[in-house]
Amino acid sequence: MNDLNASSCAPIGIFDSGVGGLTVCRKISELLPFEKIIYLGDTARVPYGSKAPETVLRYARSCAAVLLKYKIKMLVIACNTATAFALEALQKELDIPVLGVLRPGATAALSRTKNGIIGVIGTRGVINSRSYEKTLKAQRPDIDVYSQACPLFVPFAEEGWVSGDALFHVARHYLEDLKKKKIDTLVLGCTHYPLLKNTIQAVLGEDVMLVDSAEETAKDVVESLDKNFLFNKEKEVTQPLFLVTDSPEAFRSTGEKFWGTSLMSVQWVDICSTS
Ligand code: DGL
Repeated sequence: MNDLNASSCAPIGIFDSGVGGLTVCRKISELLPFEKIIYLGDTARVPYGSKAPETVLRYARSCAAVLLKYKIKMLVIACNTATAFALEALQKELDIPVLGVLRPGATAALSRTKNGIIGVIGTRGVINSRSYEKTLKAQRPDIDVYSQACPLFVPFAEEGWVSGDALFHVARHYLEDLKKKKIDTLVLGCTHYPLLKNTIQAVLGEDVMLVDSAEETAKDVVESLDKNFLFNKEKEVTQPLFLVTDSPEAFRSTGEKFWGTSLMSVQWVDICSTS
């Protein structure tokens, strides 16, 4: 990897399968207000979490290809599933820095747990890959890790159903066993889940610390820009450009819940020609 071709005023490219990565995108833009950002939500192919690793890798490559057309200086995979299955490959294949969300989330969990019992929730893909467990145990072999796939959480988040009885019942079903294991920290191993934080916290109780990797990932981005001399020197604040592979309208209405304010520029992009 080298940064010789990257221009510091070029945008940072971020992608996820849908709206979930906006949680990461928001933290990055809060921490780095002068960076230009292009966010791609692959809404035509969400969810990634139930797809085979090879399929997710192919999707991730095509998302990267779309963003590379905008001459991005850095790629952030704001999706745990794509990080688990495509980070290594994209780091080898691209000549710009490529960052994922998994290691930052694991590091944050380790710094917060007091009793050494950590829960991880994520898509089926992430949980079956055991990526979090391996990353956590590699740093602290003595800790206990309990994992649970929560496949119905992504459609709830994509639909904007972030509270209510239906979500509460589903959350209780998924989280009851983790609660019995006496976890004191829960990694939200899917970038969609922070939107469901209130319900997850209500089911687990206030004593369990919820870790979302958005903040830690944003810090990694700052560090990597610094290391590669890639900070944008232009001091202009702009809202990110949002690209989607399905209806911009649907993305805009749910995306605003993740983003907090209205999403000004949402454009459809043709991903089929790159996959
Ligand atoms: N937001 C994604 C993640 O962090 C996945 C959601 C999905 O597409 O299944 O894993």
